[in-house]
Amino acid sequence: MAGLSNPEKRLLKALQTRKGAWGLEEILVACEWSDQAIAVGAGQGLYDAGFARVDETVSVEWKLGEEGEKAVENGLLEARLWKWMNSVSEPSMSAMSEAFERHEAGPGVGLLKGLGVEIQGGMLSAENKIAIEAEIDRRSRFLNNLNDDTEMINHFKARKGLITSVENTTRTWSITEEGMEVSDLEEVEQIVEITPELLQTDSWRDAEFKPYNVNLESAMPESGRTHPMQALIERIRAIFLEMGFSELVDDYVQSAGWNMDALFIPQDHPAREMQDTFYLENPESIEIDSKQLAAWAAIHEHGGDTESLGWGGKFSNDIAKKGLLRTHTTVNTIQYLAKNPKQPCRMFTVDRVFRKESIDRTHLPEFHQIEGIIMEEGANLPMLVTTLKTFYAKMGCPDVRVRPAYFPYTEPSLEIEVKWKGKWLELGGAGIFRPEVCEPLGIEHPVLAWGMGLERLAMLVLGLDDIRQLYISDIQWLKSQPLL
Ligand code: PHE
Repeated sequence: MAGLSNPEKRLLKALQTRKGAWGLEEILVACEWSDQAIAVGAGQGLYDAGFARVDETVSVEWKLGEEGEKAVENGLLEARLWKWMNSVSEPSMSAMSEAFERHEAGPGVGLLKGLGVEIQGGMLSAENKIAIEAEIDRRSRFLNNLNDDTEMINHFKARKGLITSVENTTRTWSITEEGMEVSDLEEVEQIVEITPELLQTDSWRDAEFKPYNVNLESAMPESGRTHPMQALIERIRAIFLEMGFSELVDDYVQSAGWNMDALFIPQDHPAREMQDTFYLENPESIEIDSKQLAAWAAIHEHGGDTESLGWGGKFSNDIAKKGLLRTHTTVNTIQYLAKNPKQPCRMFTVDRVFRKESIDRTHLPEFHQIEGIIMEEGANLPMLVTTLKTFYAKMGCPDVRVRPAYFPYTEPSLEIEVKWKGKWLELGGAGIFRPEVCEPLGIEHPVLAWGMGLERLAMLVLGLDDIRQLYISDIQWLKSQPLL
């Protein structure tokens, strides 16, 4: 019979000798196999061809649980309590609490009562000793030799950790009418593997090849791979590099001056408070060039040489020098611009930022931002929106919209939203840097800027509804993630 593999032929030949169910062991003996997988595979092949039936029966087997093992070793709790009760002259509750530890004495009382022991005035006594002993004996024997006594199973099932069940699936195979008809079951030499050696000669031309069933289940090959978060970062990098951006990497320990004052965030802004920002004890303060401080002071107090009115009040150098963990990556772009105010550029950063957030489904105190700037002559709002839309489209999110927003350092300011599962999700902010930010640094061209959440985007791309999943190293989850 062509089309059957050698093992299938051998199995069919065996099944033809007797109608009815064959167990795995019988098949192994009849076919002279030692590998169960060959037998199961051949059985599946015959089933697929309609030559055999497969029947599965699931049976429940009871095994000792952790507590059960202990009971077998040390004796069942009620057996030990009973022995003790009969060995002391005055079996009182208080004597029992001394003889047994709390975790045994507590449940022990219930067990004894259930068996018919009476407690009166703190004393334990029993009328029907023979029945109690018989029951204890029955329980102990059952545990020592588990069987299908349903009453005992139900009793121990209700007690914690004594017995647990395992399900066993047993398969049997039996021949079908069609299977009986098949003749010519001679096994032939088959080629199972195509090797370079084989292909070097012509012998394969007349050989028979083992047919493959690509629909069969097989083991997933496991290999090392990049963490989905890192893979996502690499993909974002690739997109920005392809769009002509250069990457900027900088420290996350920064001064409040660069993190906030340079960005015209007023010194009494609520986001600067201790409860929102991680200020550092070491370094508690970070030196800033005095000319720089003076320029920010002028801008903040009265707008400096810009036409702005500033925020008024008195600018504090001490506040500006405070050390902190950056709250946004905009601190790095602004410093880059301070060092390179004239040269047009396109820069991006994907890096970690810190905010005092309580951890929940959508918040973490440490997260990443995807930050970027475009500085060039004539840079304008449509260009900013197009750049962001292009980025998200390349990430697989084609529906993007922008809405008016407010940041102290941009004008106009935008909020970027991406459509996911029919809802608009806010992913970040963007805008064009204000004169109060650009002029003290000597920047002459418009600067388009944005800062977006990476974890939020990761949730969309990976289909998560809890941000914490990204940082729990659940190996099963990691293995099942798509390659990005
Ligand atoms: N820094 C802002 C934030 O952390 C985002 C932003 C960056 C907004 C650049 C405008 C311009 O949310």
